[in-house]
Amino acid sequence: MTNHNTAPIGVFDSGAGGISVLKRLWALMPNEQFLYFGDSANAPYGTRPLEEIRALTVKAVEHLLDEGCKAIVLACNTATSAAAKELRETYPDVPIFGLEPALKPAALSGVHPTVVVMATPLTLREEKFRALTERFEDLCELIKLPAPELVELVEQNKMGTPELRTYLEDLFAPLDRDKIDCLVLGCTHFPFVKRELRAILGDRPVFFDGAVGIAKYAKLVLDLREMRAPLEAEGEIRFESSDPEKLPLLRQLFSFEL
Ligand code: DGL
Repeated sequence: MTNHNTAPIGVFDSGAGGISVLKRLWALMPNEQFLYFGDSANAPYGTRPLEEIRALTVKAVEHLLDEGCKAIVLACNTATSAAAKELRETYPDVPIFGLEPALKPAALSGVHPTVVVMATPLTLREEKFRALTERFEDLCELIKLPAPELVELVEQNKMGTPELRTYLEDLFAPLDRDKIDCLVLGCTHFPFVKRELRAILGDRPVFFDGAVGIAKYAKLVLDLREMRAPLEAEGEIRFESSDPEKLPLLRQLFSFEL
């Protein structure tokens, strides 16, 4: 056993979206300490140039490591695309978990299903997603749907508002909604608008996101590396944000039913 076991697990997102991942991590590992850092002062990341996102992500992860985190969860598809590889090279001893849009389970869920992948523009144009596309595009009808303003709408807590509804209506207007079999929520902010998406798209599409998968994988790796907190330990979550005004939103979203 290492002596790091009771150190926190750092969870990072450009803002409040990573709370959708934190909820899954907490459900599986309630005996762990978690330190959540949302970089809301700099969100959204997904419309910024790659180098800027990489620098912001590295800075945030350095902060979490300075706080003594034993592992890092990049609860952000965009930050993962921009910086996971470099971070793993820089910190080979720290488990660094990253996210990618859940295209694989969606593509494999039926016979040539129509799969819409919603994500930030950066996630959809970067190498990581291109490699994923090459593996699965023959198995489905793939439609990429960048949703650049949706991150801001969630950051501004616009869930349930007509403004959000109109944005989503416009976003899906060019698509034949009745043909969508799978909707991949390729950004951790998007599970918070599932209700609105369901209202627009109806019952047909199955929604996919990577949060449960990354939580299970993180638990498995930390177990195997004997880096877990003792089972009888009492877990705790600490929230931090580069924009302190967003702290109430982080707590509110943690109680949001997904
Ligand atoms: N939650 C981030 C993701 O999963 C959003 C990135 C952004 O700030 O644009 O991609």
